[in-house]
This record gives sequence, C-alpha cells and structure tokens, in this order.
Amino acid sequence: MRQDFPRFRRLRQEEGLRRLVQEVRLSPSQLVLPLFVAEGVTKKEPIPSLPGHFHWSPEAVVEVAEEAYSLGIPAVLLFGLPAEKDEVGSGAYSHGGVVQRALRELRKKVPGLLLMADVCLCQYTTHGHCGLVEGGKVVNDPTLPLLGQTALSLAEAGAHVVAPSDMMDGRVGIIREVLEQKGFADVVILSYAAKYASAFYGPFREAAHSAPAFGDRRTYQMDPGNRREALREIEEDLREGADMILMKPAGPYLDVIHEARARFDIPLGAYQVSGEYAMIRAAAERGWLDGEKAMEESLLGIARAGADFIVTYFALEAARKLR
Ligand code: PBG
Repeated sequence: MRQDFPRFRRLRQEEGLRRLVQEVRLSPSQLVLPLFVAEGVTKKEPIPSLPGHFHWSPEAVVEVAEEAYSLGIPAVLLFGLPAEKDEVGSGAYSHGGVVQRALRELRKKVPGLLLMADVCLCQYTTHGHCGLVEGGKVVNDPTLPLLGQTALSLAEAGAHVVAPSDMMDGRVGIIREVLEQKGFADVVILSYAAKYASAFYGPFREAAHSAPAFGDRRTYQMDPGNRREALREIEEDLREGADMILMKPAGPYLDVIHEARARFDIPLGAYQVSGEYAMIRAAAERGWLDGEKAMEESLLGIARAGADFIVTYFALEAARKLR
C-alpha cells in the first residue's frame, strides 16, 4: 500500500547513500590554522587556555606549519607576542618583529603554504587596545597610519594575505593604498569586517596576552545584537578594497554569515574563535560530549551557513579526521 507521506528515512539507511546525498561537505582545503609566534620562547611552550596549541619560536613554527600543509591545510594565520610592549605598539610594524621573522622563515621553508598575518595592535600595546589611546579613549584616525605600516611590514616579510582585525573605521582603504604604492598590489586583504565584541575571545586574550588593561572593546567592536550593521561594515570594507571578508565569532553568528553569503558574491571566511574551541574541548574533557563529533558538527554548521573557509583551532585535528 502506498503511503501518503514521503519516506525521508529511505535515503538514510546506508552509509553510502548518506554520503552521496550529503549537501555540504568539509575538506581540509577549507581550513585555516591560527598560530602564535612568541619572542623569547626556545622552541615551543603549551598555551594553557588553548589545549593542543603552543607559543612557537619564529624558527620552530616551521614544524607545525609543515604538518598543516602536509595534511592538506592550505593556509595559516599568524599572531605575534612581542618581547616588549609600548604605547604605540611598535612591535607590530618593526622589521625584526616576531611575526615578520616567522614569515621570512616560513616563506623559505614551507613553499606553497599560504601565509596570512593578523593586523592589529592589541598584542603590542601596553594598554592592550587595538588602536592608539589618547585621554583614555581609543582614537581612530591616528591609528590608521600604524595599521598601514603594519600591513606593509608584514607584506615585505612575505605575507600573502593581511587580515586587519582592529575594527578601526577606514583601515582597509589605508592598507590598500599603502600596499599599492609600495609595490604589493598582489597582497590580499582579508578584512574582519564583522567582528563582534565577544566574550568568546577569552582564551585567545590569555594566549596572546592581549586583554585590554582598562575598559573593553565595545567602542570599536560590534554589538552582538546587530545584524544589519554587519552588512554595512562588509559593504564598506569591500568598497575600500577588501578581497575577502572574515566573520567573527562564527557559531553564535550563523545568521549573519548566512545573510552575508546571500548578499555579497565575495569569498567569505568565518573564524571559529578560541572560546568556541574551548567550550567543545572542555566539555569533551569532562566526558559531557563527544569532542570529535561536536568538532565536526560545529564546522559543518559554519560551512552550511555559507562560509567558504573556516579559521579554526581544530584545523589539524579536523584535517586528520577528514583525510
Ligand atoms: C586581535 C584579535 C582577537 C582575536 C583575533 N584577533 C582578540 C580580540 O579582539 O580581543 C580573537 C580570536 C580568538 O578568540 O580566537 N584584535
């Protein structure tokens, strides 16, 4: 007898069928591995707030970058921890800066690997803010030339992609202009266009020693309640010359990723941030959920929402599993 309801379950009976009809698939080619390079580290030191991750010396980071590349991960995103901080974040744009040194090593030793570098001042300033501070306020325009200088110095050291994460207004335009003028027209700008003032950055700030010394980041990062504003931020960054957009965090903002995907025909990345990673890791450690399955499901959700690529602390683990 014919039923008057569809048998959805028919296509779920065999592993082979389930694989054939899966709509969104993950591959190591979608993953970007964040890496921390630190001054004064001999080889590597574990990061307590990010289990499985390390502070690498600019030389030793080659080891993990090679591993990532051999697992099919196309790109790494570098963050730096300088030996010394100052009011103006000079470590971010100095020729001998820790990320600049790592970039030169990686360019030589891991050809083929795409090198992305974060552009921001917060790890390099004594006050821990992403821009210059004047009279207790984070000031926009005086910060812009320093961000331009940072992007240029990263490009000179070998970055293929610069990723401004500071959320100052107008920074993409300045960075594009500086890169064009100085002969780096091919350097890609991946703009963290929609970056929310999020509690999920907690473990990163411990890892990067970049927590603000006073106040918070709500005068420059976005309010978690805002979706339309994210679209305006993206539109503007594209107008100023961004090639690709990064949304951050990912998991709690899937609606924004989805909407951005629908509106803009540009490559779109999402950053599954440190707190998203920490939640899954911590729950798995307690035996409260299956860490591997939760990892895969969280990444799949981000891809399904519309992200072309995902920056994730799970990159190595996920790539191993997906191969
Ligand atoms: C620097 C920056 C932060 C992150 C990436 N770039 C921290 C912040 O804005 O406080 C967070 C990444 C993560 O949590 O994994 N501005």
